[in-house]
Amino acid sequence: MKVFIGVAWPYANSYLHLGHIAGAYLPASIFAKYQRLKGNDVLMVSGSDEHGTPIMVTAEKEGKKPSEVAKFYHRENSMVMEALDIGFDLFTETSTENHKRVVQDFLKKLIENGYTYEDFMDEPYCTNEDRFLPDRYVEGTCPYCSYESARGDQCDNCGKLLDPKDLIKPRCRICGGTPEIRQSKHLFFRLSALEKRLIDYIESIKRDLKPNVYNFTINFLRSGLKDRAITRDINWGIEVHLEGYEDKRIYVWFEAVLGYLSAAVEWGDWGRYWKDKDAKHYYFVGKDNIPFHTIIWPGMLIAHGGLKLPDNVPANEYLLASGEKLSKSRGISINVKDLLKVYEPDVIRYYLSSNMPEEKDSEFNFEDFISKNNNELVANLGNFVHRVLTFAKSNFGSVPSGFLELRVKEEIDKAFEDVQKSIDTFHFKEGIRRIMALSSFGNLYFYEKEPWKKIKEDKDECANTIYNAVQIVNALSILLAPYLPFTSRKIRRMLGIRDVDRFEFCEERKEDFTLEKPEILFKKIEDKKFSLEGIELVVGKIEEVKDHPQADKLYILKVNIGNEKRQIVAGLKDYLSAEELLGKSIVLVSNLKHAKLRGIESQGMLLAADAEKSNKVVLIHPENEKKPGTRVGVGYFGLKKSVGIEELKEKGLHVEKGRVLSFNIPLKTEDGAQIIAEIEDGAEIR
Ligand code: MF3
Ligand code: ZN
Repeated sequence: MKVFIGVAWPYANSYLHLGHIAGAYLPASIFAKYQRLKGNDVLMVSGSDEHGTPIMVTAEKEGKKPSEVAKFYHRENSMVMEALDIGFDLFTETSTENHKRVVQDFLKKLIENGYTYEDFMDEPYCTNEDRFLPDRYVEGTCPYCSYESARGDQCDNCGKLLDPKDLIKPRCRICGGTPEIRQSKHLFFRLSALEKRLIDYIESIKRDLKPNVYNFTINFLRSGLKDRAITRDINWGIEVHLEGYEDKRIYVWFEAVLGYLSAAVEWGDWGRYWKDKDAKHYYFVGKDNIPFHTIIWPGMLIAHGGLKLPDNVPANEYLLASGEKLSKSRGISINVKDLLKVYEPDVIRYYLSSNMPEEKDSEFNFEDFISKNNNELVANLGNFVHRVLTFAKSNFGSVPSGFLELRVKEEIDKAFEDVQKSIDTFHFKEGIRRIMALSSFGNLYFYEKEPWKKIKEDKDECANTIYNAVQIVNALSILLAPYLPFTSRKIRRMLGIRDVDRFEFCEERKEDFTLEKPEILFKKIEDKKFSLEGIELVVGKIEEVKDHPQADKLYILKVNIGNEKRQIVAGLKDYLSAEELLGKSIVLVSNLKHAKLRGIESQGMLLAADAEKSNKVVLIHPENEKKPGTRVGVGYFGLKKSVGIEELKEKGLHVEKGRVLSFNIPLKTEDGAQIIAEIEDGAEIR
């Protein structure tokens, strides 16, 4: 069977963060590897999304050309994809000549087929900047969900597609001013004409869709489709070969989705995947990309004619960090490149597989990351493989021969059946859990059989036990191939057998093994001691609590720290009332560079903690009532550990100017509260 796998094209304006990997690349990677091992003819493509306002905004911020920004991040992100062994056949860019040609030909066909027309559109225009404000250049309140930082083309919060003129209280992203509305001529895509056909299409694939994907899509379709402008008043993007469009470019989303087709063209023999009616087409994307893949893209394909529509779009929800979406556009991110400097790719793949936001949002938590590594990878899987192989090597020199016990065979067969079912239905989390259960079974089997005793009493029985244990290791190496490819290859190399080439259990016979010296598969992550060096902590008293006018999660606090008063913007509204804060003594990080949070300056950060049991956020108080301004030292309020920015850097988690880094650091106070160290908006030591 031919299987085409398209994965969302990341904007080339920042590093890939964990949310990207958990949301789209890892599930796609697992699925593609599995499909290949099932013997299917797979083409998996993606690439950098290099046009449009996302890249322009970043370029302006960094004082670079859009093309420089795009080139830089394309290279960086391609390396991350490689390092994680995502396994693309092609990871290209939207700036290639091939892509431009495919896009222009496609648009031409849509025009010929009567699916476009010209019209004037009301568009926000900034008189200060003297320019139109498409997409990301304008922000305002979402008319659907009231989220205050909705962008001109989409609301990040509810996922609805927007028209810039729908925004309530629109503001220019560059100068903050209120734009006026001016008319501009654009080319429109007649999406409304496809409503009925798109509903029929979605109903026809409904039984395979995840409920979240189906529901979002059908609600969207039922509330009526509007025609959408496919050109923009910008100069960065693909040219429109029509008169009067010299200063306009094709809308980034309209051309980015066409990357799926152009990448196949670049790969060669594209018709093999795109014209075969029996081919299967899967698209792995994050939930904010759902409407583009279940409505706009199929709509475009129908309008064009003759090309395969998506068979499934198994979109994931979000991976959150302290309750916020890990996303570039909101500035919260955990950079994968940096994590890869410190952790093995399979450790990251394992953590994200077992914590994948499949049915609902999931939370990235560093403590959990360490615990999954230490308690699951090291203590269960790594331990089992190592124990078995070292025992075999030191007592038999290699793997002894034997016969597979019925209960071992049944356990292995059942694991294969379950894992296949999980991957086939996009339940990746369940799949990895099931594999780890086989590893637990292996540990238990080894323990029960007591080969270390039997070696002296009954060497034959001991040999048979080891033979069986090795077959469990062998089975694990096959099952793990889609999930933890590095580990799978390592195990097989240690056994002296070829890499997995089929997702099927096959008993390896004695003569195939040349047992290498077993190496350690996973290393324990030490729960490092941090120091407070460089960070100044002082006692402060909260003297005033006000609501932030622009953000419903933020308070503005006046904090007395002895010789001065500080204004602190704190995201505590969901957790603590104004009464709970007023008059309290707190601990303030006083030497951070001041930062603006939604337009209001914040002159420091207060320490808050996540109470382990109650799931509540609590303030960290000084041990005794201390005068405002009192310096707080390490261990003063009973911290076992605390964190410094240097240590964060050492761990490869960098704090960059102008970026927000929010990270759960596994610190505990004596009473079991976990410190949330949120280093925000370019928090730099002054
Ligand atoms: N660049 C978009 C994002 O990061 C995704 C584009 S996916 C594709 O949200 F469909 F355009 F390919
Ligand atoms: Zn919204």
